[in-house]
Amino acid sequence: MEKPMTDEEMEAFFVEKADGNHTLEFMMSHHMSAEEWSETLDRMIDYGADINPEEKAMMIKWLMNRKE
Ligand code: HEM
Repeated sequence: MEKPMTDEEMEAFFVEKADGNHTLEFMMSHHMSAEEWSETLDRMIDYGADINPEEKAMMIKWLMNRKE
């Protein structure tokens, strides 16, 4: 098992995955349930975001646990 990423590393990961389409501030300004995030990330994947199922699950878990 890999070590979980720090908050800083996760933020950099979101920026990398957004690939210039969104700022971190834009993404983090949204507050959704896990199900809503799942639907949103699926839509982003349809738009071309390079996010695999493991990454998607890890991102949602972190979004649910982040400090506001
Ligand atoms: C880490 C990756 C990403 C995250 C967390 C993310 C997050 C979001 C969020 C929260 C919204 C607003 C949705 C709403 O208001 O319900 C959004 C909208 C949008 N995103 Fe992303 N995004 C990501 C990657 C991308 C990528 C790679 C693209 C384009 C290739 C993209 C294109 C769009 C577009 C066009 C919209 C507006 C239309 C819509 O909501 O379907 N996003 N994104």
